[in-house]
Amino acid sequence: MKRVLSGLQPSGQLHIGNYAGAVRQFVDMQADHEMFVFVASYHALTSTRDPDELRKNTRQVVIDYLAFGLDPAAHPNTHIYLQQDVPQVTELAWLLSCVCPKSQMDKATTYKDKVARGLPASVGLYTYPILQAADILSVDPDLVPVGKDQVQHIEITRDLAQKFNHAYGEVFKLPDYQLREDAGILPGVDGQKMSKSYGNDIDPFTDEKPLRKRIMKIKTDSTPVDEPKDPEACTVFQIFRGLAGRDDPRTRALADRYKASGADGMGYGEAKQSLYELILDHFADARKRRAELMNNPGYVDKVLSDGAAAAQERVTDVTQRARRAVGL
Ligand code: TRP
Repeated sequence: MKRVLSGLQPSGQLHIGNYAGAVRQFVDMQADHEMFVFVASYHALTSTRDPDELRKNTRQVVIDYLAFGLDPAAHPNTHIYLQQDVPQVTELAWLLSCVCPKSQMDKATTYKDKVARGLPASVGLYTYPILQAADILSVDPDLVPVGKDQVQHIEITRDLAQKFNHAYGEVFKLPDYQLREDAGILPGVDGQKMSKSYGNDIDPFTDEKPLRKRIMKIKTDSTPVDEPKDPEACTVFQIFRGLAGRDDPRTRALADRYKASGADGMGYGEAKQSLYELILDHFADARKRRAELMNNPGYVDKVLSDGAAAAQERVTDVTQRARRAVGL
């Protein structure tokens, strides 16, 4: 069984973009992979200084992982854990930082992007990719599923592992990455990539009324009802297709509605209503599970302690190898 590692930063309630872009893939993989899925709470310190918010968001990501269908009870090889429960990753990050040329961090694009978006230009943000490399290398994974924006981080990870191994002998295993299809990237209500930090996300767990209102807010152009429309160019359709899938009959039917004209023409309100109904249908189980999980903190605690134990076992082994290799 191949081992997989991936994680998300706890930036708040997960939205349908996180689901389509990441969590759905984890859920699909758990049947035939050993999954290490974690919450990158240390990484979140590069963007938040509110301890209560960090605690709340960290917990929420775990609940949402479970609500979306990660299921350690049904799949004993699925491990969900918090980064702070394997503090050895910070030691590994230090060991890796000592083989990392400063120029390599200068070249990382996410730092510049994040500073441009207003995040404080801390050393933590600057060396963020090294901590991410430590997360990955700490469990010896075969595969890291990521979105396009994370590919550079995986390349840095492989490069640091190679540099370390070159200096000290074979300690780290070089993981491959698995790129999510582009369909996994959903636009938000303003048409930009859906992201909590852009304030354009859709939360599938809100009550029906505000959910519908949110979907009605999606930006569309002003093509009149009786004129045919290009589904590919419309944010509403892109989200629909991202969730339902390109070949789903509902996606095809909606595309046909876009192309209709004259008295049969489609207004964007109709497309939005279809998307609203799709979301309610698609996330019906997740919504139910989430409501149950909110009332069952004991189960969430158990998932996290089991996950931490499984991760600890791997991480301790890898950390010992690395310490021994460098002479500690
Ligand atoms: N940087 C990732 C993101 O912003 C989160 C992350 C941290 C991560 N460590 C990781 C993802 C290790 C995959 C593997 O989404």
